[in-house]
Amino acid sequence: LTPLLIPPVMPKAGTIKMQGGKQADYYEISVRQFAQQILPADLFPPTTVWGYGAVTSASKNGRGLLIHNAPSLTIEANWKRPVRIKWMNELLDASGNFLPHILPVDQTLHWANPPGGLAERDTRPTFASTPGPYTGPVPIVTHVHGAVGVGDESDGYAEAWYLPAAGNLPASYATEGTWYNFFASKAAAKFGVTWGPGFATFQYPNDQRAATIWYHDHTLGMTRVNVYAGPAGFYIIRGGPDGDGAVIDTRSGNQAVLPGPGPKENDKFPPNKTYYEIPIAIQDRSFNTNGSLFYPDTRAFFDGIPGPYIPDTDISPIWNPEFFGNMMMVNGNTWPFQTVERRRYRFRFLNGCQSRFLILDFSNIPGVAVWAIGNEGGFLAAPVNLTVTNGNHLVMSPAERADLIVDFTNVPVGNYVLGNLGPDEPFGGGVPGIDFPVADPVTTGQVMQFRVVPAVAPDPTTPPQFLQLPAITPLPAATITRPLALLEKLSEFFPDAPAEALLGTVAGDPNTGVGTWTELHWDDDVSENPAVGATELWEFYNATPDAHPMHVHEVAFEVVNRQPILVDEATQQVQVDIGFAPNPPEAWETGFKDTVIAYPGQVTRIRVQFKTSGQFVWHCHIVEHEDNEMMRPYRIGPLQP
Ligand code: C2O
Ligand code: CU
Repeated sequence: LTPLLIPPVMPKAGTIKMQGGKQADYYEISVRQFAQQILPADLFPPTTVWGYGAVTSASKNGRGLLIHNAPSLTIEANWKRPVRIKWMNELLDASGNFLPHILPVDQTLHWANPPGGLAERDTRPTFASTPGPYTGPVPIVTHVHGAVGVGDESDGYAEAWYLPAAGNLPASYATEGTWYNFFASKAAAKFGVTWGPGFATFQYPNDQRAATIWYHDHTLGMTRVNVYAGPAGFYIIRGGPDGDGAVIDTRSGNQAVLPGPGPKENDKFPPNKTYYEIPIAIQDRSFNTNGSLFYPDTRAFFDGIPGPYIPDTDISPIWNPEFFGNMMMVNGNTWPFQTVERRRYRFRFLNGCQSRFLILDFSNIPGVAVWAIGNEGGFLAAPVNLTVTNGNHLVMSPAERADLIVDFTNVPVGNYVLGNLGPDEPFGGGVPGIDFPVADPVTTGQVMQFRVVPAVAPDPTTPPQFLQLPAITPLPAATITRPLALLEKLSEFFPDAPAEALLGTVAGDPNTGVGTWTELHWDDDVSENPAVGATELWEFYNATPDAHPMHVHEVAFEVVNRQPILVDEATQQVQVDIGFAPNPPEAWETGFKDTVIAYPGQVTRIRVQFKTSGQFVWHCHIVEHEDNEMMRPYRIGPLQP
């Protein structure tokens, strides 16, 4: 086993003064291709991956000290101090020509489609127009997932992608998505920044609760293959009235001591000090025997449907509705270990899998105590003892985060496995091992290893039961209820094969009667158009057999409750099953979230306040779904003229 790689902090390119004299942190971050040892070095060569790295002013040409990792380096932001980032697409070879994708791109999905030019927005390419695998330049656009109050120009809209500024771009190709220029002018007017070939400059206010958020590619119809290739990293917001400094030790009434430190900007790599606060990204992956990343290029892999590229204008011939890798990659290595002392640690977990729901299982670690203190939107209202209340288990859907204090104080010295009970197949909820098969116990059922050693010093941290977390101000009451549908469509040609995952609106009120859904695609007009300042209740009626992690950009929301529903496929109707009372959210789902599990056969209700006008998206974070129509634009404030 290899030691857990703890991603270093992204170096800044500098500090800038903005209009009004306010200081902001400035970064230049590029996506590049490189090789990284992911698999055991004695058996496999390094794997070619992509990742985000910092371009700093440290070298003469200003382009030195480029450090990449998968996961990428962690961006450390401070509350209310804006961060401006020049995001560069540098998927280029040494002579400045573009590098092709390292994974198969399904051109029949509704995708960025540089060869199709600006028609990308309105045309779903067909086999006839795009035969064979795509070998052109790769579009990229970066989204900071969980960033609240960001202008739409900086949100990484799926159709604001851009190609690298390559020397060999085919002249007929669109070099950017249909929304790129609109947002470029907006960014110029707002921040005085200029976008150019191969880059866009975004700005984040960080005017939200301290939280563990993350960043990744968000290109239309390509997010699953782009992110699978590597570009994703943590973004941690610290400080302010909801930060670590506001946590109280109830025994003394003074500021509590949380496990730390985590990595800092100028730390050496590998570090020459011990971290007690560690971000941990869990991603399932598969590899070819030569060490390269494997992503299926045909449905044969899952459904026995022959491929690749079956000529058809309606179904998606090689789209795989979900992806489940056979290996667990944690911070960029398969099944690493972390040496831990007999004391408390703070782990910021991210489920960075494509489709896999994780059920973290600490029950193989005798004497451990696991407490949840935060989720996507920062601290919970109160610490939750998962050891006592939840059998040392925690369900995490793709994109969810969990801020945990794991106490190894009473764990005997030895090696222990952090397990996973989430299945190697779509998740329906229910009880692991009874309602669904669990992950393969010798592969994906294992996440990483903890090697417990004696503590080197007394643990100075506050025991979690004495932590008083910052108070949470609930959102105002909702003034509008929006029933929405989560749907899937089967192929006309292969009846067992899903052709698309979809979202839709629901007409009528399924709470008081029957609601009828309408399927909508990415291209359909905006149907969710909250007013600036409005608080709304969004209801996700899940009419599919699987759970979907639903993510809304731009906001942090409250989970209100869940309730069983009745679904009639034939009439496309849903209805709340009033025989069951609504269930409140789980204790670790309280506070604020940006991603919520919508279980099958249930409505999941969230309360959302919309504050910043603009064009954003909401979608399922199973990236295979997101890429094939389970994403919709929404608009806060006036619709575009
Ligand atoms: Cu993590 Cu819209 O994405
Ligand atoms: Cu989904």
